[in-house]
Amino acid sequence: MLILKGGRVLDPASGFDGKADVFIGDGKILQIGGTRELSGTDEVLNVEGFAVAPGLVDTHVHFRDPGFTYKEDIYTGASAAAAGGFTSVVCMANTSPAADNPETLQYIAEKAAKAKIHVYQAAAVTKGLKGRELTDFAALRKAGAAGFTDDGIPICDAALLEEAMMEAARLGVPVSLHEEDPSMIARPGVNRGRVSALLDYGGAPAESEYTLAERDCGIALRTRAEVVIQHISAARTVDVVRDYWHRGAKVHGEVTPQHFSLTEEIVLQKGSLARVNPPIRTQEDRLALIEGLRDGTLDIIATDHAPHSREEKARDIKDAPSGMIGLETSLALGITNLVLPGHLTLLELLEKMTVNPARLYRLPAGTLSQGAPADVTVFDPDEEWTVEDRFYSKSNNSPFIGQRLTGKVKYTVCGGRVVYEG
Ligand code: DOR
Repeated sequence: MLILKGGRVLDPASGFDGKADVFIGDGKILQIGGTRELSGTDEVLNVEGFAVAPGLVDTHVHFRDPGFTYKEDIYTGASAAAAGGFTSVVCMANTSPAADNPETLQYIAEKAAKAKIHVYQAAAVTKGLKGRELTDFAALRKAGAAGFTDDGIPICDAALLEEAMMEAARLGVPVSLHEEDPSMIARPGVNRGRVSALLDYGGAPAESEYTLAERDCGIALRTRAEVVIQHISAARTVDVVRDYWHRGAKVHGEVTPQHFSLTEEIVLQKGSLARVNPPIRTQEDRLALIEGLRDGTLDIIATDHAPHSREEKARDIKDAPSGMIGLETSLALGITNLVLPGHLTLLELLEKMTVNPARLYRLPAGTLSQGAPADVTVFDPDEEWTVEDRFYSKSNNSPFIGQRLTGKVKYTVCGGRVVYEG
């Protein structure tokens, strides 16, 4: 048995927030609170002063495996996840070959089975992520696809997307969408506005996101599919999702720590490290994202962990790839920028990082209820630390290096085993 002793247990699935011991055995949660007889082989971890939460769930990561393993692979991605307190992740399909065929899913599943956390894979909506022909959803679902997405690339063909949503609704799996209409974008990765003008960059306007999101929420309403509007960056996209949710569409709003933490000025400081699709926008957008988190429109926090090599990010911002890593800073950014200023309680933050994404993707995760898998994150909600240029990820493309944050992961337990100790 493993006993996490004396911590503040937070389980958003039940609303429990109180001091209790957690008893773990056979890879499962045996009991929360109370006492049990201990034997000589039991291990006790003193977690007094720390928060004890369900293992974090990130339904939007890029582990680059197969095809781009110089940036990340399933094992380094899993190590970065464990260091960030995550015990379940869903990888996106923009690998090479793309995750659009059962053989690639099989390769990933075999490797993932040996990883220290639970690594799930989403399959592509269209063959080769080209937006022209649907993949075989039923076969990919059978091969283990957790959901469907062409993340990284918007799906421009509305009729094709409608067909995809009908198929996903039939199979009972979510479709996750990258909303940026390319016809409105001069160059992606930086918000079209003051900063892009200063840099003569071109940029991606907010309209490119909310117009496509509106189209797709409409299709979601018609098809009854469960849809995630991924990495929402613009105030008006939050309004679109809120509106369609009230109209009965099964639409979920996802937001990343970079979008609720930063504004477009970061590009002037950090250059290509701050280049991301969709881009970081204005303070008005950032505050609207926080309001969306507060009122529940944005129900999922995901990192969009997108590793790129040093060499790639050292290029001029106009030629560097978009994306940033995020697994090792996500929880601390949530505590620092959402909980400490009073926008969310710690339980509300954890709800968006555990039970909500787990339910949507039907993962056996996200709760500390008795009998649940013993996936647990222990963290100090008060410890301050500085983000160093030293990551478990193979890549270091973070604009948060040098920032002082609050909230530090102490232990990550997956399947009853301690897989990270901070
Ligand atoms: O900036 C991004 N990079 N946004 C995405 O949606 C994809 C990601 C990547 O794969 O690098």
